[in-house]
Amino acid sequence: MKPRVTRAIYPGSFDPPTNGHLDVIERAAGAFGEVIVAVVVNPQKRNPMFTLDERENMLRACVAHLPHVRVAHFRGLLADYVRAQDADVIVKGLRVVSDFETEMSTALMNRSLSNVDTLFLMSDARYSFVSSSLVKEVFFLGGDVAPFVPGPVLSVMSTKRTALKQA
Ligand code: PNS
Repeated sequence: MKPRVTRAIYPGSFDPPTNGHLDVIERAAGAFGEVIVAVVVNPQKRNPMFTLDERENMLRACVAHLPHVRVAHFRGLLADYVRAQDADVIVKGLRVVSDFETEMSTALMNRSLSNVDTLFLMSDARYSFVSSSLVKEVFFLGGDVAPFVPGPVLSVMSTKRTALKQA
């Protein structure tokens, strides 16, 4: 039987994308025929640091070297988006054991809603402590986030820092 090209969806807030996210995307790109990096439009997170456009543009710059990866966004249920895209799997990164607790029930719910499995990639050890929320905290307290985010993200953050200083 000819194996089908697998379409994977990697969903997230990506506020901002980190080196850990990019590592998962690159490894997923090696494992699946096509990867859709899907930025959630999440009304529950009321004060994102970056607009949807900024997040999508940063991600596009980060994945420009990966031909079978595209960046998109979705509203509402991930399970509905997965079905609409005719995706085969959801991909998530797992950093620490505490991630597993929420991810397990989320994966089961998504499977129940869409009949699509979630496949987990263990975070590279270099990035297991790196999260978007910690990156933002370090940034707003004046720390150097260069080791934790891809170059295109760093330049957007540097521009924001300059704008904040001038405000
Ligand atoms: O990067 P994040 O914030 O950890 O990503 C969370 C995300 C986007 C994967 C999750 O919030 C999500 O799937 N949101 C869509 C709404 C949804 O489907 N909720 C039910 C999940 S079972």
